[in-house]
Amino acid sequence: MATKDSLSEGPRHVALIMDGNGRWAQARGRPRLFGHHAGAKRVKEIVRACKPLGVKYMTIFAFSTENWKRTQSEVSGLMSLFRQYIRKEARGLKAEGVRVRFIGDRVRLDEKLVKLMNELEEMTAENDVVNLTIAINYGGRDEVARATKRLARDVANGTLSPDDVDEETLPRYLDTHVLPDPDLVIRTSGEARISNFLLWQSAYAEYEFIDTLWPDFTEEEFTRIVGSFGGRKRRFGAVPA
Ligand code: IPE
Ligand code: IPE
Ligand code: MG
Repeated sequence: MATKDSLSEGPRHVALIMDGNGRWAQARGRPRLFGHHAGAKRVKEIVRACKPLGVKYMTIFAFSTENWKRTQSEVSGLMSLFRQYIRKEARGLKAEGVRVRFIGDRVRLDEKLVKLMNELEEMTAENDVVNLTIAINYGGRDEVARATKRLARDVANGTLSPDDVDEETLPRYLDTHVLPDPDLVIRTSGEARISNFLLWQSAYAEYEFIDTLWPDFTEEEFTRIVGSFGGRKRRFGAVPA
């Protein structure tokens, strides 16, 4: 029988796969980018909901390493949306105590966007109310490959011994090295897959797949999901006493 103390506390780190913008727009006879703009507007409300729920870390998937396969107009529309978003929201995020970080490979992103990303990270570096991490040109496999490359360099230059490579060492080379692992991963839009998000980090995350399309996702639904997390029994491979 589940006793109260065998149940988990609220999630400290929630990761969100914000999916369904395109379908949301299509259902309204509008272009996909209209859905992306509507989706971007939802982020603020969800980030604001974190503090009262005790969610200290929130990581959101904005653009995957595979999303370059989309039409050039959708990709450039998204890149321009990211620039607009940072310009528009930077002050508010800073004022609300949100520390923003970005994960993903910046090499393929345009210079202007990278500059805005760096500035926002610096500008909010002293904040500590909520840690918001935005994944842009992020892929879990790409992240592990880039981490391995850096790790191999350290082995080659003698700062790391191959014998010291273990599951504590490798994540120090990941983009997420300063973040705790996600406790809960939520994906909207009815797809039950992780699409290359936080592969290493989500090994023991709880998953919640919901049908709501991202632009329809509300604080109420987020609160309900975070609340229901407390009823889950996380065993991490062990047999509970
Ligand atoms: C998620 O919405 C946002 C990004 C991947 C950038 P989609 O654009 O994937 O929307 P659907 O899945 O096509 O509806
Ligand atoms: C995952 O959604 C990526 C983001 C939400 C940014 P996709 O829509 O790209 O994933 P698939 O193609 O359905 O797996
Ligand atoms: Mg999608």
